[in-house]
Amino acid sequence: MKNILIIGATGQIGSELTMRLRNEYPEGDVVAGFIKGAEPKGILLESGPSHEVDITNPMQIAEAVDKYKIDTIYNLAALLSAVAEAKPQLAWKIGVGGLYNTLEVAREKKCAVFTPSSIGSFGPGTPADKTPQDTIQRPKTIYGVTKVTGEMLSDYYAHRFGVDTRSVRFPGLISYVAPPGGGTTDYAVDIYYSAVKGEEFKCPLKPGTFMDMMYMPDALRAAIEIMEADPTRLIHRNSFNIASMSFDPEIIAAKIKEHIPGFRMTYELDPLRQKIADSWPNSLDDSCAREEWDWHPEYGLEEMTKDMISHLREKFGIPAPSHQESEVAMAY
Ligand code: SER
Repeated sequence: MKNILIIGATGQIGSELTMRLRNEYPEGDVVAGFIKGAEPKGILLESGPSHEVDITNPMQIAEAVDKYKIDTIYNLAALLSAVAEAKPQLAWKIGVGGLYNTLEVAREKKCAVFTPSSIGSFGPGTPADKTPQDTIQRPKTIYGVTKVTGEMLSDYYAHRFGVDTRSVRFPGLISYVAPPGGGTTDYAVDIYYSAVKGEEFKCPLKPGTFMDMMYMPDALRAAIEIMEADPTRLIHRNSFNIASMSFDPEIIAAKIKEHIPGFRMTYELDPLRQKIADSWPNSLDDSCAREEWDWHPEYGLEEMTKDMISHLREKFGIPAPSHQESEVAMAY
């Protein structure tokens, strides 16, 4: 990878991945592709080139690829699961139409393409625990339908046209940088914000709702490592199960309480999100990713919780309680 275009560079993953790629590949151009109304700002704008790229407009993708001699495209444009249910036509247009546009440009101009898939590509008929790499994928959400279609279309372009397409199935991603929007796993981000601000958290999912989750630094590393992987070792391409932790609301709340003893969580269920979460796996088996490109996670729930709390405190200027205060709180 030398010159990279990130489509959706100002979104939840893109805003962090763009910066990470700029650090990893200082010799090349890492171009932040954005849409009108979501222009890059601050360090994202200042640290490298940006270009307007609406994924539904193939001309704009081709223009950016030509201008910066792009060899790798990170296609991060998507609507998350709950929002996609409210706008299924738009979800298809971006998720599948946009991917088709990207793959066609990649075919003509010989680019590699990364397009994330998701735990949402599975459905109620999928084995829920230790979900295998190759298994039933019959999702009930439009988000999942676009992801499975994307996996198949990406594999087709690899086998039929030799386009170097690769992908991972992301779990719910947790980060203190850019807030997610409209996902089913977002509660696991929101819960940290409430806890650090000293607010009660109203959990939209019921106890016992297990899903795979991942801390953003691991997810970014996965997105880079899969594109750097030795192609001769890859039996799979689109898309690899990756995993680092699986928990339900009770487990994450208990972990937060170990660090913020006064934290309180109540339940206010969101039927749409609950239905979506119930149709997704509890935990993925990521052994193929481990075997084919040495994937391994670095953050578990404890390491992530410590890091999230300390960064969110910094972000909101909330001082950490003194050692004595936290000892007293633990005693109660
Ligand atoms: N985080 C996504 C969502 O909840 C799943 O990949 O929609």
